[in-house]
Amino acid sequence: MTEAVPTYECVKIEREGPVTFVILNRPEKRNAMSPQLHLDMCEALDWAAEDDETRVVIVTGAGGNFCAGQDLKLYFRGTEGDAKARARARTAAHEWRWNKLSMYPKPTIAMVHGYCFGGGFTPVIACDFAITADDATFGLSEVNWGIIPGGLVAWAVTQVMNYRDAMYYSVTGEKFSGAEAGAMKFVNKSVPADKLREETMKLANNLASKSPAAVRYTKEAVRSVRNMSKDQALDYLNCKSDALKFMDPEKGREKAMTQFLDEKSFKPGLGNFAR
Ligand code: COA
Repeated sequence: MTEAVPTYECVKIEREGPVTFVILNRPEKRNAMSPQLHLDMCEALDWAAEDDETRVVIVTGAGGNFCAGQDLKLYFRGTEGDAKARARARTAAHEWRWNKLSMYPKPTIAMVHGYCFGGGFTPVIACDFAITADDATFGLSEVNWGIIPGGLVAWAVTQVMNYRDAMYYSVTGEKFSGAEAGAMKFVNKSVPADKLREETMKLANNLASKSPAAVRYTKEAVRSVRNMSKDQALDYLNCKSDALKFMDPEKGREKAMTQFLDEKSFKPGLGNFAR
């Protein structure tokens, strides 16, 4: 029986089979991130990480927009005179947007539509994959407010944008479309708005069909080796491969080897690669 999903003040959870949508839910404020939204996202992501039915998480926003950035009223002005409240909000904001998403045990996809501004960039980058609508609007608008892309945003954009684009869009605050985000590979791909959910679900269901352990270890490996030397990477990847062999409860490697070598029923090179 499908377990009931938890409810939060500023975040909504929806299921579609093995795929769980974790939805920023302040549509009337274009999903601007309040301190409460940050706390709710921390809890929601922890819940989905442990939920047995969830194999893939899609992070998106309610009401046709992804996120209008930090809530200027509640996150910035609202915590101005209260150092403890500011620290609590800042910790929670960093925790889910980077720490949790970038180390998430299950594959994550950012599904972006409408507006995505400022602090909304961080979760898009921290997710393993990102798909956007062609007509989405991205903007590193901090400079227009007289602030910098802080809370890790400036660092995060340099992880996925080339240096020229990161500098250009951070310093000018100029907007770019989903189609442009796709062309510069800020996201995996950009699709017509009316195909966004379908295309995102296609990727999600593909990921859900594979061995969870293999998917998890692969994404951890790709993420980790980026900051290693060749020799460190070789050693780490050998250890990681050995660890996967012992940790995969589904024994995906052995199963695939038997199917390919003995039963001759599995040829990933010909496309029958769902596992
Ligand atoms: N912080 C706080 N409130 C925000 C917000 C933000 N980042 N973005 C939008 N809102 C609020 C608006 O104040 C408005 O509240 P109200 O109904 O109480 O007046 C509500 O959300 C709807 O916004 P509105 O501007 O009327 O909608 P729109 O569709 O015309 O424009 C945006 C949407 C996102 C283009 C526009 O609100 C905007 O430019 N927001 C700021 C984006 C930004 O620069 N974020 C980075 C912050 S560092």
